[in-house]
Order: sequence, then structure tokens, then C-alpha cells
Amino acid sequence: MSVAKKDIKKMTTHQLQEMKNRGEKISMLTAYDYSYARIVDDAGIDVILVGDSASNVMAGHDSTLPITLDQMIYHAQSVVRAIDRALIVVDLPFGSYQGNSSEALRSAIRIMKESGAHSVKLEGGSEVIDSVKRILSAGIPVMGHLGLTPQSIYKFGTYTVRAKEIEEAAKLKEDAKLLEEAGCFALVLEKIPATLATEVAKSVNIPVIGIGAGNGVDGQVLVLHDMLGVTKEFSPRFLRRYLNLYEEMKGAVSEYIKDVKSLDFPNDKEQY
Ligand code: KIV
Repeated sequence: MSVAKKDIKKMTTHQLQEMKNRGEKISMLTAYDYSYARIVDDAGIDVILVGDSASNVMAGHDSTLPITLDQMIYHAQSVVRAIDRALIVVDLPFGSYQGNSSEALRSAIRIMKESGAHSVKLEGGSEVIDSVKRILSAGIPVMGHLGLTPQSIYKFGTYTVRAKEIEEAAKLKEDAKLLEEAGCFALVLEKIPATLATEVAKSVNIPVIGIGAGNGVDGQVLVLHDMLGVTKEFSPRFLRRYLNLYEEMKGAVSEYIKDVKSLDFPNDKEQY
């Protein structure tokens, strides 16, 4: 028997906390548009991230820096229209929160008001803590993001594993505590050693979601187009591909082209 829409229990930040408390892992994937978000929500994902990775995946940029607040809101609106159950987190894009906390609050309010999403995510620890607090003070749930923070790629210089050195690992642990104390409802840890991620997940009470951070954390996130194999050039060690959609879709398109050229499509049953 299918569940009526009104009976679907929506995911909340409180439920994520309860999942961590009882040791149930949290599933999270990105989505940027209505059709993919529908599939992901229907499959029962806990959290959908409208990530600024849309800059790479949807727009073809080679970093997350160019995407604008207006573009993020457009993606978030499309995802919100698709969702019955998942909690929706939207990335604050580069340049929309680092300047000062008032600007950060304005950007977060625009996302919440104009898209109808449930929370925002931003990258960094002590450097952005005033912005985190200001957004939280308006009642907007905030997810933190530490480790490899792609908006800082020009500072890092590469997309390699972060926090392998003692100093950077110590700062990451302090930042995780700081974000928890400020009131963040969860943290993403990206591309750091699994032992460090496990340690952080044990040291804070809020859920810690990993990407390339091992399985000692409270949940996992991947970029949807990467795990479906829509993107094919990006192959980091942490990525598990569940499909090879690039090749499958290319095959389908090639068949269509062949059918059109050979007059096989449309056939008698496919016309009026
Ligand atoms: O934008 C994004 O897709 C992300 C994930 C990699 C966590 O921030």
C-alpha cells in the first residue's frame, strides 16, 4: 500500500540528531533539479544537499567559486518542489557569507525565503564563526563543512587529502567543537584521514557526515552525478559508482539518432 503524501514523516534536524544518538547512519546526496531530486527523495534519502558543486556538475565550471546566490536559489527552488520527505540543505555560495556576518545573514535569509529549503551549509571554522552565529540567531539551521573546503581551492592549491599534518588536524578538531558550541546541527567532513574523522565524530554530539572520510562517522554524502556515473572524468578513491549512466545515456542517444536517420522512429504506433 502506498503512503499518502500527508502521512510521510518529514526529516528534521532533530531526527538526524536522534539517528546519531541511536547509531543509525544518515544518508545524504546532492541534487540540483526537480527530476533527480524526485528520484532521490522517492528512494528514501535522509538529506538532500543542494551543493555548490552545481557549479561544476550543472554549469561546467572547474571550481565551485563562480556560482551565484541567485543560481543557488534557482536550484534550491527546483529541489524543494520535488521533495516529500528529505531534509534540504543549501550551500551558501562563495562570496555570500565570508565578508561579514550581516551579509551572511542576508544571504541565508534569501535562501530560506525564496526557495523554501530547510537549512544552509557553509565552509570553514573559526574564520566564519561570526557568520555562523548570526545565521543561527535568526533561527536558520546551519550545517558546517570542514576538511577539504572547495571554496578555498586557490588557498590549498590541490584537491588532495586535508589535515594529514598534526597542526591542521588540531585546528580541524577545534573548529568542529567551535561549530558544535555555536549551535550547528551537523557537520560535513570532506577528504580527511578516516581516523581523524572518527575521532571528531566521537568528540562532538552532533551528526558528522563524511565524504572521503571513512566509515567511522555518522553518515555519508556523495555528489549524485558522480555516484550515478553521469560524470566520468572524476574518479577519486572515495567514490563508489553505482551506475555508469554516461555510457548508458550515450548509448540511448546514439540509438535514437540511428532510429531517426533510418526512419525507424516514429513507427505506426508512435504517431496519430
Ligand atoms: O557542494 C557539494 O557537493 C558539497 C559536498 C561535496 C559535501 O559540499
